[in-house]
Amino acid sequence: MTEAVRPLAGKVALVTGASSGIGEATAVALAEAGAAVAVGARRKDRLEALADRLRGSGASVLALDLDVTDEQACADAVRRTREELGGLDVLVNNAGVMLLGTIVGADPEDWRRMLSTNVLGVMYMTHAAVDGMVEQGSGDIVNMSSVAGRTARKGAGVYNASKWAVNAFSESLRQEVTGRGVRVSLVEPGAVSTELTDHITQPDAKAASQKMYTSMRSLEAEDIARAVLYVVSQPAHVAVNEVLVRPTDQER
Ligand SMILES: NC(=O)c1ccc[n+]([C@@H]2O[C@H](COP(=O)([O-])OP(=O)(O)OC[C@H]3O[C@@H](n4cnc5c(N)ncnc54)[C@H](OP(=O)(O)O)[C@@H]3O)[C@@H](O)[C@H]2O)c1
Repeated sequence: MTEAVRPLAGKVALVTGASSGIGEATAVALAEAGAAVAVGARRKDRLEALADRLRGSGASVLALDLDVTDEQACADAVRRTREELGGLDVLVNNAGVMLLGTIVGADPEDWRRMLSTNVLGVMYMTHAAVDGMVEQGSGDIVNMSSVAGRTARKGAGVYNASKWAVNAFSESLRQEVTGRGVRVSLVEPGAVSTELTDHITQPDAKAASQKMYTSMRSLEAEDIARAVLYVVSQPAHVAVNEVLVRPTDQER
């Protein structure tokens, strides 16, 4: 991208769950658009490889050892981003797990992991970032929800519940801070080819999910990264609050 089309030049972004999939692609897209980028996740080797790649293209990058279920780690990630990259303009709450399965016979540990990562993680990161954004009178908080936050399905109950919670939290926050210049947005992907289904623990649910993903032309992570870039590149008076992106082949 040439300077003339680097809409995020001078901005600082923090992307959670940037060690793979949508988060990694989003970090690349934001860096290409001119932002300095802090990338957070638990797999440090993957983050360091990404950071090296982005620095090689001239971006300022901070790799953060971040478990979003740890409130203090979230606060530290935001503090270090501000201290080491000079501010925080864009927070992309992307880290998440999708441990699909029936409610009958489920292992509640899957539920704890989904709710602590997908819901509390978004809340902790937002809590750490939002005061500074309100103070500076600007900022973007982009929360990665899902089609699963709008349509409940048998076999996805607690994942649905986690993304419903993200949607409700986002809309409430939006009303609270939009008058103070802070935009809150939801990006809601359908099926995207990433590592997301690899972590499903119920064997039948894992097989069914992977079959669903490969039965159609699923989205690529870069397709969603473009949606995030679109949201955060708007003029200050334009708030794109919700973007639902399905593969053309996905009916529900
Ligand atoms: N793929 C889809 O079809 C799809 C559809 C709709 C919505 N989404 C949402 O998109 C987001 C990204 O998923 P993806 O598809 O890109 O899957 P992915 O490739 O598995 O990426 C998930 C990311 O979240 C990170 N993560 C998981 N637990 C974390 C924790 N406790 N703390 C910090 N980071 C954590 C992972 O990094 P580490 O393991 O290194 O920590 C990884 O970077 C999720 O919120 C997901 O619900 C995905």
